Amino acid sequence: MKVLIVGGGGREHAIAASVKKSSRVDKIYCAPGNAGIAQIAECVPIGVMEFDKLVNFAKEKEIDLTIIGPDDPLVAGVVDPFEAAGLRVFGPRKNAAILEGSKAFSKDLMKKYEIPTAAYETFDDPKQAMAYLETADYPIVLKADGLALGKGVLICNTKQEAMDGVKSIMEDKKFGDAGNRMVVEEFMTGREVSVLTFVDGKTVRVMSSAQDHKRAKDGDQGLNTGGMGTFSPSPFYTPEIDAFCKEHIFQKTVDAMRAEGREFKGIIFFGLMLTEKGPKVLEYNARFGDPEAQVVLPRLENDIIDVVEACIDGRLDQMEVTFTDNAAVCVVLASDGYPVSYEKGYPIEGLSAFDGKEDYFCFHAGTAEKDGKIVTNGGRVLGITATGDDLKTARRKAYEATEWVSFDNKYKRNDIGKAIDEC
Ligand code: AMP
Ligand code: GLY
Repeated sequence: MKVLIVGGGGREHAIAASVKKSSRVDKIYCAPGNAGIAQIAECVPIGVMEFDKLVNFAKEKEIDLTIIGPDDPLVAGVVDPFEAAGLRVFGPRKNAAILEGSKAFSKDLMKKYEIPTAAYETFDDPKQAMAYLETADYPIVLKADGLALGKGVLICNTKQEAMDGVKSIMEDKKFGDAGNRMVVEEFMTGREVSVLTFVDGKTVRVMSSAQDHKRAKDGDQGLNTGGMGTFSPSPFYTPEIDAFCKEHIFQKTVDAMRAEGREFKGIIFFGLMLTEKGPKVLEYNARFGDPEAQVVLPRLENDIIDVVEACIDGRLDQMEVTFTDNAAVCVVLASDGYPVSYEKGYPIEGLSAFDGKEDYFCFHAGTAEKDGKIVTNGGRVLGITATGDDLKTARRKAYEATEWVSFDNKYKRNDIGKAIDEC
């Protein structure tokens, strides 16, 4: 069969590598892809928000299955025109992708269906938000309602910071229309864990857990980024916690969406905080995480196409989804200056060191081909990933492999997976 993957980052490279392993797939296309994806798929210069062009391409090439990677096209409703054209596509429809697209929607859903999450209030009017903040407890968390490249969350330690935050989100519109509404949320403490799940509208199959490192600098300092590295599984996500989450969070969320007439098919990525009072939802995402996919998908034992098709056809209850009993660590090599400003276009050396190695992966995020050479083309450049029998081994191998490649302004965190040492 012919598969089209929409997106062009490290997550989509990990998806493409997983699809490539399927014996059922003859040809992979990726729109727009990147220089790494181009080694296993034919990249086509169509942007992720060009829905008409994507649908026309899928019709023209008789694509059997399209997999959508990023949040922006999902939330804007890319799945609906694919379905309207009679094409098979993996991802939630617009009315279900709102689970990620609106924090106010997701918080109201959790309240209505008693899914554990932080206490909150929603505001449309900055004056009312400010009045509420006069008497609130601190720290407190402000969240722009809509998508804001993962940057729309402000943790405010003082009333003054919170007032400034309301001004920047709701009045100065720092995140554009995403800030027309705002959620003000109780601050939670605990360990964070990412749990990705396959969902077919009714049944949930949980993937191996992961932990991201969102801040730019060592010791969780610096600005929030898309993610500087991940490890999987999370040793803090125990079988007891998993059993609790399956019953009180995962299944309840899927049932709630169906009850609301918003049947969810695709990936739900649960961002959880393991608090003293039990696991609570920090956020929902309607897609694979990036760089969570890079440590989870290489360990998927099933043929990914079988799982994706079971989701689309509502047959996930007839399938077990399993992962190898090992571990993976991904260290992101970024351009120095990310996430604020950075230079692009530097040649990347040493990539061939990964050729033929089964337990090392070099997932491309921001790369391009220029004059026959692979060059840096983004903030996050590569996701250097290794698997090993345990987390410590995977971590040692991933860091070792970060030395195999070089480019100007190469930057990485040195403490990805440091929490593993506490176990
Ligand atoms: P989100 O995009 O909602 O996942 O938020 C980004 C990051 O902000 C999370 O990964 C957490 O580290 C932090 N965060 C979000 N909500 C809260 C909360 N209620 N309490 C503490 N930290 C939070
Ligand atoms: N790594 C976090 C995310 O994909 O949202």
